[in-house]
Amino acid sequence: MKKLIAGNWKMNLDIGEAVKLIDQLTAELNDYDFEKADILVCPNFTCLYPVHELLKDSQILLGAQNMYHETEGAYTGETSGSMLKAVGCSYVILGHSERRKYFGETDEFINLKISKAQSYDLIPILCVGESLEERESDRHFEVVKSQLLKSLSGLDKDEVLKTTVAYEPVWAIGTGKNATSSEAQEMHKFIRDEVISGIVGDGSKSIRILYGGSLNENVSEELLSQPDIDGGLIGGASLKFGSFTKIIRSIK
Ligand code: PGA
Repeated sequence: MKKLIAGNWKMNLDIGEAVKLIDQLTAELNDYDFEKADILVCPNFTCLYPVHELLKDSQILLGAQNMYHETEGAYTGETSGSMLKAVGCSYVILGHSERRKYFGETDEFINLKISKAQSYDLIPILCVGESLEERESDRHFEVVKSQLLKSLSGLDKDEVLKTTVAYEPVWAIGTGKNATSSEAQEMHKFIRDEVISGIVGDGSKSIRILYGGSLNENVSEELLSQPDIDGGLIGGASLKFGSFTKIIRSIK
């Protein structure tokens, strides 16, 4: 499957900084063979439009970091799926562990957003992953399965097939301690063969499952060459164009 390398910029980079990073990325990836991987950047909302303008002649894709599940109306501070579409987004990250932790997002709430995103033809990147305590008490498979089933509940097969999953163990995010390739591969295989295949059968083979959590240029080749790891969701290292492009170029 063609890999996806996605940069999650989180609440970093103002417009000037974002423009600079995109200029560097587009120059560096000028000769890149985009048949090898899809490349996606997910800036904060204020940078979506300027980044969209800069990416018009590029194959780099644009995504958002969040979205609200209502169509429009009196929801101060929120952004709708149609607004994201209008600014050129093709992806939206949903259910990131930081949204779950700091903003109280539940699987049920994330489920509403996923189905709304689908209705706008935005590809949701559904983030799941266990905490350190859940892994240490050997509950990581159960936790991830429950997050997936609840977040995908009620979606039809086609919608599930159009969803990208990101396995991001919470203990690996921003800590510098990535999951080992065998830990990640084991969970990705579980997600594909034990959870998603229960919903879409053989179609699970075509679902992209990204790994995220301290993914950097030193470990990317090893992680991204695992059979069930279809790409990466990259935070810190996506802010440095040298690191991000090295990760991209580590895909053979
Ligand atoms: P990190 O973040 O690469 O900085 O660990 C990944 C993410 O949260 O998506």
